[in-house]
Amino acid sequence: MVIAIDGPAGAGKSSVARAVAAELGFTYLDSGAMYRCVALAAVEAGVDLDDGATLGPLAGGLEIELDGRRALLGGRDVTPQIRGRDVTAAASRVSVHPEVREAMVARQRQLVAAGNYVAEGRDIGTVVSPEAPLKVFLTASDEERAHRRAAETGDDFESVLDAQRRRDARDTAREHGALRAAEDAVELDTSSMSLEEVTGRVVAMARQRGLT
Ligand code: DC
Repeated sequence: MVIAIDGPAGAGKSSVARAVAAELGFTYLDSGAMYRCVALAAVEAGVDLDDGATLGPLAGGLEIELDGRRALLGGRDVTPQIRGRDVTAAASRVSVHPEVREAMVARQRQLVAAGNYVAEGRDIGTVVSPEAPLKVFLTASDEERAHRRAAETGDDFESVLDAQRRRDARDTAREHGALRAAEDAVELDTSSMSLEEVTGRVVAMARQRGLT
């Protein structure tokens, strides 16, 4: 069973999903880390990031393990590498290809079928688990999201905002697995909410729905 937490970058998905999972005793799944691993592998292999036909089989053949904190690619700890600026930009490009998405969605479905998960991403409630009993769509203003990211990375606000707008545009415009709220998702604007407040709301909804 899965609680789906979707939304754009910087809306608070990772922190909220992690905290909700800890509170409920569920496993946390960071689907973005999987796309980041594909991006890293593609960059390392020198594959053209626009070449979906080559990226699909590459993605399908990768050994990706996530334990909630670390990401392992073929057994190698790549946790810091997948958070770098270049891999972040590359992840946004590789994730538009349906061949890559199919490979990742299949794995994500396999994982969540085998336990209780809080999964975060862009398409968990719409594509990976449309049957999820609780779907949350987190948003926040562009500026607030960029402020959070800049505080985290130490990068300058304007360049973070600019890169974020480009990633948002690619996420929402792509044909497959586009970023959008499922019709039955609960939308929460986290711009002026604390992590504790958002987590509390999601945990309360999970309990109300008898998921724990
Ligand atoms: O959430 P994140 O920033 O770690 O995601 C990295 C990239 O992967 C981002 O460009 C969007 C993409 N992504 C996706 O297309 N589908 C998902 N379910 C999760 C992430």
